[in-house]
Amino acid sequence: MTAAERAALGRLWLADALSEHASIASFARATLELMAVGAPPELLRGCQRAALEEVRHAELCFRLARRFSGRALDPGVLPAPAARSGGLPAVARDTFLEGCVAETVAAHQSTHALDAVRDGEVRAVLARIVRDEMRHAELAWRTVAWAVREGGASVLAVVRWVATRARAALRWRWTPGPGWPRGLSRASMAAYGRLEPAVEAACERAAWRELIEPALALLGGSHEAA
Ligand SMILES: [Fe+2]
Ligand SMILES: [Fe+2]
Repeated sequence: MTAAERAALGRLWLADALSEHASIASFARATLELMAVGAPPELLRGCQRAALEEVRHAELCFRLARRFSGRALDPGVLPAPAARSGGLPAVARDTFLEGCVAETVAAHQSTHALDAVRDGEVRAVLARIVRDEMRHAELAWRTVAWAVREGGASVLAVVRWVATRARAALRWRWTPGPGWPRGLSRASMAAYGRLEPAVEAACERAAWRELIEPALALLGGSHEAA
């Protein structure tokens, strides 16, 4: 591995570590928001468990960031996010975007990255993240399905509307170039769990096509058949 690759790996794993760290707060806020709309214990339990899993993801990603950067990196202070209002439609909308979309895309990208990993520690971290993020995505879909059962057609309409907007934004978003910047080899970066930005973008599109859109269609079907 070159010094440039080592530095890039440190930066990329640090970005993931900070995002995992922020996810702990997101699940804590989601628990409060679910309680405010009377969600069942099964969803609250799932949310609390997911928050604990995000603590572990953050620890593991910070460890990798320290290893590659050679620096003492820690999360520091994160301002507490306030619970949002808006009732069931807002819970369905936010859970769809943050869970059904973001966790599904993350799991899909990490699964793809895992295929090319050649480092034992990175493999163990990614395998754990894939397993947990898939469960977080499932929890999000169960939460949205519950909100649609409780709130009916108006909640389903909000989810479909936000899905259409998110899908359209994806189509117009700038797509990164074909590879890594000069000095970073695809094989080295892949060996340590990093996908090229263009491959990450392709995975995001595939996750929408193969997972999110079919699940969204089932969500509407189950409500309309009920
Ligand atoms: Fe995570
Ligand atoms: Fe997650």
